[in-house]
Amino acid sequence: MADTWESLRAECMQCQGCGLAGGRTHVVFGDGSQTARVLFVGEGPGQNEDEQGVPFVGKAGQLLDDMLAMIGLDRTQVYIANIVKCRPPQNRDPLNTEREACFPFLRRQMALLQPKLLVCLGRIAATELIKPDFKITREHGQWFERDGMLLMAMYHPAALLRDPAKKPETFEDLKSLQQKIREVCPETVLRRDW
Ligand code: URA
Repeated sequence: MADTWESLRAECMQCQGCGLAGGRTHVVFGDGSQTARVLFVGEGPGQNEDEQGVPFVGKAGQLLDDMLAMIGLDRTQVYIANIVKCRPPQNRDPLNTEREACFPFLRRQMALLQPKLLVCLGRIAATELIKPDFKITREHGQWFERDGMLLMAMYHPAALLRDPAKKPETFEDLKSLQQKIREVCPETVLRRDW
């Protein structure tokens, strides 16, 4: 039977597909508009996200909200998901086995959403979605085309919190994203124009 958002979410909530299931408080399925044209994909839930069941609600999430606001967007106009839906212990990188077990959920979310633009937040999402040897320092801000969708990666907000010197480059990436939204997502209303 074809997925609906409700059936997919319900299936994801029950998932026991990898070892992360045993340590979770909440599955973090995703947040935002189910008709968004722009999809942001992070790595996996941290402590705050695990507690609340919503992606990007901790300090990195506040910065993501600020980044969206800089280009006239808020999280109700985009969709936000992660490569893995359950928190890795001590926020370690998700293992390959965990990513592989979880990836079909993201694929099915993408099939429902059919985004025009996909923004990878950080290296883990970029290596999973753009190419396995993606180099975030060299290739952030570049656009790639895949199956009629345009993809780019920017630094993960947590990386920007650790190293604020990366913020000016990220601002350029955000402006490039805003330009692409103007070009290919006319239905997305930008409340701020650079
Ligand atoms: N970092 C992520 O990659 N995802 C979240 O949801 C929160 C922090």
